Amino acid sequence: MGEKKRIGILTSGGDCAGLNAVIRAVTRCAVNMYGWEVLGLCKATHGLMSRPPQAICLDVAKVDPILTMGGTILGTTNKGDPFAFPMPDGTLTDRSAEIIEGYHQLGLNALIGIGGDGSLAILRKLAQQGGINLVGIPKTIDNDVGITERSIGFDTAVNIATEAIDRLHFTAASHSRVMIVEVMGRDAGHIALNAGIAGGADLILIPEIIYHLENICRHIKQRQAQGQDYSIAVVSEAVCTEMGKLVQQGHFDDCRLGGIGQYLAERITALCGAETRVTVLGHTQRGGISSPLDRILASAFGVAAVELIAKQMYDRMVTWQNRQVISVPIDDAIKYYRAVDPNDTLVRTARGLGICFGD
Ligand code: F6P
Repeated sequence: MGEKKRIGILTSGGDCAGLNAVIRAVTRCAVNMYGWEVLGLCKATHGLMSRPPQAICLDVAKVDPILTMGGTILGTTNKGDPFAFPMPDGTLTDRSAEIIEGYHQLGLNALIGIGGDGSLAILRKLAQQGGINLVGIPKTIDNDVGITERSIGFDTAVNIATEAIDRLHFTAASHSRVMIVEVMGRDAGHIALNAGIAGGADLILIPEIIYHLENICRHIKQRQAQGQDYSIAVVSEAVCTEMGKLVQQGHFDDCRLGGIGQYLAERITALCGAETRVTVLGHTQRGGISSPLDRILASAFGVAAVELIAKQMYDRMVTWQNRQVISVPIDDAIKYYRAVDPNDTLVRTARGLGICFGD
């Protein structure tokens, strides 16, 4: 069984489905297989910044009911870079030393950080600076973390978006409308591409493939000429306007992607006269019960992360490749942004199905 350890686990960045399944898997494996103690750290690194550090003791009875639950029982945040932390007086302060001190105050032997590329980069910097034994687990509905084929939360988001598209077919057909479905994904078009194919969309617009409005309108008109007087277009939130501008909501440090669906609807109506409606799926893609695939991935990643700690293999991230869980240096994963490759097999699949990318 080896030396008894006390490990910490935290969730960082935007929440997604499957986070609680990882917390459960880590706890079950660490407690049952190794007899370790597991502390759940509250609100990402903020819990380690608080005094006393905010953490909860996790045991098998506490985590068993959370397998299917969306969100994260530990809380999370996608704000407040600890190296430039926004203070109430408006200044930015480096609070990394407090987090590192919090880790050591709790007597932790290792830390499992569940995050996307941004969170993992911050956690790695803290680990390097403060002697933290870190293991990373990739999560994000955007599926844009380097090296891993899948991140936790992506499959559930695709399922939710697909279900929405399925429902929109009927109302689109009944009213002979163009339905635009705006999905999340940040700078990567994975959700749009996958849900677009699964949901039988007619157009898929992603940031990695530049569209021209005339091609979109031509496709809609061709469908009308063939007697298909409605169309479904899935658009990724980071698709730009014709002038190459991102469409955003909010101001200054609270600027978020959103609104490209409405922009395209107005342009399509103006150019080809089609009646359009927009559905923005927003945070529904992050919520709800996690899909079986996300639960399986979360369980496999959680167990693999505990095994890395048992072997004292730190500064590594677990990844999914060819149906295997392996690990790679965290640095390798975060320096490579995983966008959609325009030559990807799914892009070719979509083209083969006659789906228009607007290019
Ligand atoms: O990175 C996950 C994500 O859901 C993106 O797809 C989206 O752009 C962003 O987070 C939304 O962030 P917030 O929760 O701050 O609105």
